[in-house]
Amino acid sequence: MNQKNNKVNILVINGSPKGINSNTLKITNAFLDGIKVKYQGFAKIDMVVVSTSNINHCKGCFCCWTSTPGKCIINDDMTQILSKIINANIIVWSFPLYYYGMPSKVKALLDRNLPLLLPYITNRDDGGSNHPFRYKSKHAEIILISTCGFYSTINNYEALIKQFDILYGTNYTKIICPEGELFSQKQLSNRINEYLLYVKQAGEEYAFNRSFSDETEQKLNSLLCPPKTFVKFADNSWNIKNI
Ligand SMILES: Cc1cc2nc3c(=O)[nH]c(=O)nc-3n(C[C@H](O)[C@H](O)[C@H](O)COP(=O)(O)O)c2cc1C
Repeated sequence: MNQKNNKVNILVINGSPKGINSNTLKITNAFLDGIKVKYQGFAKIDMVVVSTSNINHCKGCFCCWTSTPGKCIINDDMTQILSKIINANIIVWSFPLYYYGMPSKVKALLDRNLPLLLPYITNRDDGGSNHPFRYKSKHAEIILISTCGFYSTINNYEALIKQFDILYGTNYTKIICPEGELFSQKQLSNRINEYLLYVKQAGEEYAFNRSFSDETEQKLNSLLCPPKTFVKFADNSWNIKNI
């Protein structure tokens, strides 16, 4: 944390194409409410709304490593976003699961992080390789918050979690919530509000301990609705006559 003025810079990367109507963002906002219990007034929360940002694809030219070290030659919103990433104490990646991974525009944003790395190859303890960080001062804490449409994480979240494990080691915190579309169902508002209270509790615990209690972890991992009921509910919700 920024010890000098005790300000905590929290950067939320809202990667849902639905912007502020995102199911995932509902969880993220509850988590931030919990964090604010500790940092009230000292938390500066900045949100990058990926869907409305001008983010082009990496060209693969490596200019950010050669002719313009640390700087991408593409002139778009990534200049500002990278500066926010560099200055963040906590980065919250908030996005839905798309085809067992991150939505494509979030991946475009991630690819454009290349200027933050140095070209040299270093050996990882696990036998793999990586590139060192260009900026030594900041090692932001990472939080992954994601919802998905199925009721299970099995054969669903493995690839994304592996990607985050490789990127951040064990050094990140995650909230994964299946049955995400239920967040927009008014009939389930009691259960949704209950879940969001646990998420807020998780945010508060994170701010104080950098971890969740076993009880909170268990509440976060309990489904919003039993699978059988959920599947019936989900299948009926499409209300489509002409297939
Ligand atoms: C293109 C697309 C791909 C999706 N892929 C998956 C998937 O692989 N697994 C899954 O469980 N849900 C999948 N979903 C469902 C979303 O993850 C789910 O609706 C999520 O709650 C949306 O969150 P949001 O409102 O934050 O965007 C997909 C949805 C779309 C539109």
